[in-house]
Amino acid sequence: MQELSALNERLVAIKKEIEEGSANLENSRAVYEYKKNVMDGKSGLIGSLMKGMKDIPKESRGDYGKLVNELKTWAQALFDELDVALKAKEMDAKYASEKIDITMPAEENVSGNLHPITQMRNQLIDIFASMGFDVFEGTEIENDYYNFTALNTPADHPARDMQDTFYLSPEFLLRTQTSAGQIHVMEAQKPPIKIVSPGKVFRSDDDATHSPMFTQLEGLVVDKGITLCDLKGMLDLFVQRIFGEEVKTRLRPSYFPFTEPSVEVDCSCFSCGGTGCKLCKGTGWIEVLGAGVVNKKVLENCGIDSDEYSGFAFGIGIERAAMLKYGINNIKHLFESDLRVLSQLNDND
Ligand code: DAH
Repeated sequence: MQELSALNERLVAIKKEIEEGSANLENSRAVYEYKKNVMDGKSGLIGSLMKGMKDIPKESRGDYGKLVNELKTWAQALFDELDVALKAKEMDAKYASEKIDITMPAEENVSGNLHPITQMRNQLIDIFASMGFDVFEGTEIENDYYNFTALNTPADHPARDMQDTFYLSPEFLLRTQTSAGQIHVMEAQKPPIKIVSPGKVFRSDDDATHSPMFTQLEGLVVDKGITLCDLKGMLDLFVQRIFGEEVKTRLRPSYFPFTEPSVEVDCSCFSCGGTGCKLCKGTGWIEVLGAGVVNKKVLENCGIDSDEYSGFAFGIGIERAAMLKYGINNIKHLFESDLRVLSQLNDND
């Protein structure tokens, strides 16, 4: 019996110790750890009591076990209660930290747009594709033959001065005009030919309306019986599609080595309708592209019989077309990548 009263005293002390020990536990994980230590069969406050059973006289063991079990049940209940309370607190904290204020204004999604040059290029390709033109993509590095000689511009030809050329070697250069594509196409394909060839071109030229790199779109039609009238008809349709229904074209005589006759194509001013304004510098007309009937020598250079076939060609500066369309006065705006400028030049909305 002596053992039992000593045990009772111990139980009171253990309960107190557990109560004190668990009072400062801050989270459910700590409760779990503390409980494990307390219950541990070897060294735990409660677990080790069971180990002491063997020192208890047989007749007292039943009572001893009962008391220890009561303590266990008590402790288990205490830990369960603590666990529930702390878990609830933890969930509250989690909810508070994940709280979403649905009254906050949503973040604006800014989406980009195609560069105005790309838009213009795509628009031109769409227009010509709808007229039955195929697209030929040439290369930016060309040799002298394709860029000049085959286009009826041999080495000593004064027209070479019209285009200040970046030479990479005596033979290779950065193409100065997409016209080089005409030769590749006519060498590879027999008439009928109907292609446009868009791409970058390069010239040593730099001012408000010129850039050392710019973009052109070349056009070439070769077939039996093609005349300047076919060119004029196609151009009318083209300017109407790009600048507006009421726009007309006029042809002025010009010179390009690869076309004969050569023309400069103007369209009636789509801003003032032809009465004269700032855009057309008071003339009522705006220059949009160069064109002409393909020079017989060029056809012959490509092995095409110039008595049987004829053709027309044209070259459009895409930056120039974009500047006209968007009313941009300096070509640099198209190359500076300033989003404040570029986001205003969007036809895709
Ligand atoms: N290649 C000429 C240039 O870059 C533009 C041009 C004019 C192309 C007349 C043509 C054409 O095909 O027929 O200035």
